[in-house]
Amino acid sequence: MKIIILFCIITLTCGFFGNVVSNDNHLPYKAIFNFGDSISDTGNAMKSFGPMPSNSPYGSTYFKHPAGRLSNGRLIIDFIAGAYGLPFLPALHNLTKDQDIMKGVNFAFAGSSALEYKFFAQHAVTPPGTNNSLSVQLGWFKELKPSLCKSKKACDRYFKKSLFFVGEIGGNDILSYVLTNKPVTEIREIVPLMVEAIANTTSALIKEGVTELVIPGNFPIGCNAAFLSIVDSKKKEDYDELGCLIPYNTLVEYFNEQLKCAIDTLRQNNPQAQIIYFDYYNDAKRLYQAPQKYGFTSDKNEILKACCGSNAPYNVDVKKPCGTNGTTVCSDPSKQINWDGAHLTEAAYRMIAKGLVEGPFANPSLKTPPFKIAA
Ligand SMILES: *[C@@H]1O[C@H](CO)[C@@H](O)[C@H](O)[C@H]1NC(C)=O
Ligand SMILES: *[C@@H]1O[C@H](CO)[C@@H](O)[C@H](O)[C@H]1NC(C)=O
Ligand SMILES: *[C@@H]1O[C@H](CO)[C@@H](O)[C@H](O)[C@H]1NC(C)=O
Ligand SMILES: *[C@@H]1O[C@H](CO)[C@@H](O)[C@H](O)[C@H]1NC(C)=O
Repeated sequence: MKIIILFCIITLTCGFFGNVVSNDNHLPYKAIFNFGDSISDTGNAMKSFGPMPSNSPYGSTYFKHPAGRLSNGRLIIDFIAGAYGLPFLPALHNLTKDQDIMKGVNFAFAGSSALEYKFFAQHAVTPPGTNNSLSVQLGWFKELKPSLCKSKKACDRYFKKSLFFVGEIGGNDILSYVLTNKPVTEIREIVPLMVEAIANTTSALIKEGVTELVIPGNFPIGCNAAFLSIVDSKKKEDYDELGCLIPYNTLVEYFNEQLKCAIDTLRQNNPQAQIIYFDYYNDAKRLYQAPQKYGFTSDKNEILKACCGSNAPYNVDVKKPCGTNGTTVCSDPSKQINWDGAHLTEAAYRMIAKGLVEGPFANPSLKTPPFKIAA
């Protein structure tokens, strides 16, 4: 008798766990919504600007075709969605009938800035590649909202179980200044405004009923092949022991500190909301510090180079970007952190996602993911 009861308990328990992974009702988040730039765009810009040629190396490692993403495969947001049992985030401007917007939508647009497009012209700075800045993306969300939930009560109930990402955004604001040859001191001056733009969007989302948000900081852009190539400093003292540009990493550290202060204020003003900081900076920096530990090449020069690009310093020539005639792809993209200059490889995004979901680079942590980060 005892044995039979025990057996029943085991089968019931197993059945229950079986449901946890197959039944959406038990997933920690019902939906993920994302705002940002090319770091998390899953097809919006590419849908608007026209597709890449089918033989493009973009997407080649995972999707086997350019899948709207500026990498050789999946992005951080793809790995996170997978760990929470949710599908790849559909891009707002490329929604298809088989995609369920109730599980989330991606508003991120490659090239977009935290500050509004007109700000750059007003300051005589080369504008970003698109005017779909963070506030424009917020407008898209407000337009879509009635298709997600009808009443305030229904929206509150739905958003309570949804996760919102505000960023990463701001990399293109900095890039615009760098492309205009502005000194770092001048870029520092716009940091408070960039942070304010991110805080404003976060507040606006909380007003809409959103209760759980992630705000990522920025990456160590001083180690980024595009910045290294564009800045092209001849001063030896500008480089650290890894070969990264100290002034640009210091700039991002300053940005991230300001952002964390703004997050503290948002938390105080909105005690009902959970606001999580994602430390992209240290999560990515460790990859450059000990690349072999994470499966990348241990060659100190190679690790800073783009996998896909031209025969130029860091393999980056802004006039001959990855995928254009005459450019090459490295033999093993999984050994490189950098994909095309500005963007990282799927292998790097995967390690970064692991550091966020499995710790310790999210503060506080997200809800416990039901799945491991995909291989
Ligand atoms: C748009 O969606 C279709 C169908 O899901 C997909 O095949 C295509 O690659 C997407 N386009 C972009 C630019 O992401
Ligand atoms: C801004 O975006 C709109 C579409 O939303 C487009 O029609 C317009 O040309 C863009 N303006 C600039 C300056 O890029
Ligand atoms: C943030 O919102 C405030 C209040 O609406 C506004 O005055 C300010 O200009 C906004 N800042 C940015 C950078 O958009
Ligand atoms: C690519 O470059 C090669 C050699 O430089 C040239 O023969 C070919 O026409 C170019 N193709 C295109 C599409 O520009």
